[in-house]
Amino acid sequence: MQNPQEVQRAAAELTKRLSAGLSAPALPAPSGADEPVGIVLGTGLSGLADKMADARAVPYDALPGFPPSSVASHSGAFLCGRFPARCGEDEGLGRAVIIQQGRCHLYEGRSPAEVCMGVRVMAGLGVRTLIVTNAAGALNPNFDAGSIMCMTDMINHTGVSPLTGLNCDAWGPRFPDMSEPFDPQLRDLAVETACKMGIRLERGVYIGVHGPEMETPAETRLYRQWGADAVGMSTVLEVIAARHLGLRVLGLSCLTNKNRPDCMAPVSLEEVIAAAQTTGRQLGRLIRALVTKL
Ligand code: HPA
Repeated sequence: MQNPQEVQRAAAELTKRLSAGLSAPALPAPSGADEPVGIVLGTGLSGLADKMADARAVPYDALPGFPPSSVASHSGAFLCGRFPARCGEDEGLGRAVIIQQGRCHLYEGRSPAEVCMGVRVMAGLGVRTLIVTNAAGALNPNFDAGSIMCMTDMINHTGVSPLTGLNCDAWGPRFPDMSEPFDPQLRDLAVETACKMGIRLERGVYIGVHGPEMETPAETRLYRQWGADAVGMSTVLEVIAARHLGLRVLGLSCLTNKNRPDCMAPVSLEEVIAAAQTTGRQLGRLIRALVTKL
């Protein structure tokens, strides 16, 4: 079980560091109309942060108890700022965002509580809407590597839950509903926005596995039979923690490789990162456009 005091301490330190030297708070007041949108950026997707106005960064190691990410492609910091409205859209300050740039994973030996700490800290800073991103392998034979998939549903096949142990009633109920892990309105907005921008957006089910080993052909066949369209090693625990807290969630995957059980080919981390960086630029444009509409 995650210690709520530990989350509060990290959230308080993050708030303090984000506001240091500013006359006004770095973040809008929680529960205001302008509450910040939380974004978790996965493998190779960190470019999005460059587009923020007035970005302030707080490295994870400045936050007590916050787990570092040991994956080379994950830079490990919270970034807070605003995405300015795009040209031709209504002016104003733009939307406040908190970006968790890089995450830790079960396969690094981290606990479910550590994996979900970022989401819980962002909720502590007033986030009510969360966009989670990841790199994933396509299982649906109609999906191409290099596409983006909007998650419609998910399968937690990691074997663990971040809600194991005593329930923290202040966060959410003992048996949270998971009939809608991803918010239908956010999904519709993503589809509509992508369509207007000429970005192809697939829709499908994500299966989260423990890793770090990639899937065997038999596993790949099985996951497809279970109804999964994409497979990855993150996200599902974060979505469970977010839904427990009552956040509305949008999930977007960069499909970095194609997994076909009958002609499996080795996939290297370098390929995954390179593909995520390419698709990530498009995903970044989509997220920026979406955020300013929320
Ligand atoms: N499997 C699991 N995780 C992944 C993959 C994959 O094929 N591609 C990117 N992350």
